[in-house]
Amino acid sequence: MKAPLRIAVIGGDGIGPEVTREACRVLRAAAAKGLSDLELTHFPHGADHYLATGETLSQRTFESLRDDFDAILFGAVGDPRVPDGRHARDLLLGLRVRLDLFLNRRPLRLRAPELSPLRSADSAPIDFEIFRENTEGLYVGIGRVEHEGTPDEVAVSESVASRFGVERIVRRAFEHAAPRGLRVTLADKANAVPHMFGLWRRVFAEVASGYPGVESEMRYVDALAMEMIRVPDRFGVIVTSNLLGDILSDLGAEVVGGPGLAPSANVNPGVHGLYEPVHGSAPDIVGTGRANPMAAVLSAALLLRDHGAVEAADAVEAAVDAALASGVRTPDLGGTATTSDVGNWLAKRVGGADTSP
Ligand code: NAI
Ligand code: MG
Repeated sequence: MKAPLRIAVIGGDGIGPEVTREACRVLRAAAAKGLSDLELTHFPHGADHYLATGETLSQRTFESLRDDFDAILFGAVGDPRVPDGRHARDLLLGLRVRLDLFLNRRPLRLRAPELSPLRSADSAPIDFEIFRENTEGLYVGIGRVEHEGTPDEVAVSESVASRFGVERIVRRAFEHAAPRGLRVTLADKANAVPHMFGLWRRVFAEVASGYPGVESEMRYVDALAMEMIRVPDRFGVIVTSNLLGDILSDLGAEVVGGPGLAPSANVNPGVHGLYEPVHGSAPDIVGTGRANPMAAVLSAALLLRDHGAVEAADAVEAAVDAALASGVRTPDLGGTATTSDVGNWLAKRVGGADTSP
């Protein structure tokens, strides 16, 4: 018999635990229905845990997450009581880098036309994906501040791109696009940032030449941002750097209904993965029951799909579409349902059985 899928759950801060709880409810429903064999193990890490114990992410916990689990389901981090955000950096950026989760996939699909602020959305299906490089770029934290606090103050932040790092994600984008007949677009800013994005362009052109059947193009990110609003249906896979991917995926999320609907996967394919909603800890709505758990639930569906539980993933995504169509929506989508109303409804739809925690 196949071993169960071992999932580590880190709710984190703010609405992180609230939306993750509902995603777990839906996962348990899929398991109860026999769609997937899985084990959920909860970790307390986040701001509360850090303030109580001083631990952000110990070596021991890191090794357990790395060695004892197939995947991590993550909520969000960020808490006003930790203004320097060190626990968030160690947990989320730390796991992305230490597990070498170089590919951050952010699928953006418009699931109901009226959810988009774009007037053209009802005629053109919007369904594309951003492949964000997740371990390099401006997020490597290299830099310095000189003459701090004086009129001569200078701050430098360095952005890093390696041929190895760029090539592996560009190649993934083409591998994903080829069997699906999708166009691959590189988003860069090579005109203003020639060193780093010059490397991206050279590597992109080289990889593209190995895929003569795949349509590909290079776009400056500013022009691309306008196109994402004007003609979002023209995109298939957009591959880009860490910072540009971060910004473009929030823009894309808004185009398909806002942060409550945007999932993501941070993966080193075949090795490990961390699945999380694109949104943050939303301190402005924590504890109100207004958090939309759909982005977390859709992240769990990505986790299932990546681990071969295709039937379970399909069932979870279909349940989200059914909830949207039935008006089971939190206030961000114009509804009156609470976080747990939505989670319960989805769990029932997927499993039919009792899945209370
Ligand atoms: P945010 O994504 O937490 O919130 C932005 C806006 O979207 C807020 O008005 C919020 O109420 C709303 N929103 C977010 N998720 C929602 C949901 N599921 N349902 C309904 N409404 C939702 O971004 P913000 O405010 O910039 O950051 C808050 C904290 O989260 C900060 O500490 C930030 O560093 C952290 N953060 C963490 C991320 C992560 O863990 N991956 C990503 C982005 C921010
Ligand atoms: Mg972001």
